[in-house]
Amino acid sequence: MLACAIGACQRVPNAPDAVAKPLPIATAAAAAGDDLVAHGEYIVRIGGCNDCHTAGYAERGGDVPTGEWLTGSPLGYHGPWGTTYASNLRLTVGDLDEAEWLAYTANLHTRPIMPDFMLRQMRERDRRAIHRFVRSLGPAGEPAPEPLPPGRVPPPPYFQLVAPAPAPPRPERRQASADAQNGQNPVQ
Ligand code: HEC
Repeated sequence: MLACAIGACQRVPNAPDAVAKPLPIATAAAAAGDDLVAHGEYIVRIGGCNDCHTAGYAERGGDVPTGEWLTGSPLGYHGPWGTTYASNLRLTVGDLDEAEWLAYTANLHTRPIMPDFMLRQMRERDRRAIHRFVRSLGPAGEPAPEPLPPGRVPPPPYFQLVAPAPAPPRPERRQASADAQNGQNPVQ
């Protein structure tokens, strides 16, 4: 009954029974895989991975073909931790199968400025989708430059992070400890 209704709405000329036929299993699986690949592309795009892991992405307003995505960047991030470079994820993903990638990203701990906490908190399905998508692009490019230790000035180009001075104690706390010294109850 329902099938008739759908069939009536979606009648395809010269292929009257095409709508009613279920997809062959292999085709359905491929479609599900494609969904995951497309989802992976979306997560990479919206999750900001390209901002750092694709050279020139921000400068080109995000208008970079997917074939060039995630091949790493020579732009250094210089701060108290030394200098780090966003890695070539096309090579990383090429080296790790899905199970290895899921285990790796669930516990990822890197140096700054990688938001590793973001990957650790990302749903498994999303991390699997990233793997599926990046695998679909294939390996490409060269490894990013090696990180430099603290105190070494990197060659340009690099971002310099000047860390803020430690914050002074909050006024309420100063008042509270003064009150405590004077034998008064600090204000709650
Ligand atoms: C703000 C910049 C920035 C963003 C955004 C960013 N990364 Fe990174 N990422 C880095 C840097 C820099 C490193 C290198 C850290 C180091 O040397 O320890 C890195 C390292 C990594 C590593 C470990 C190195 C490797 O290849 O195994 C993984 C995995 C990774 N990033 C995945 C991602 C993914 C996936 C996203 C998007 C969800 C992302 N990153 C977003 C800057 C960034």
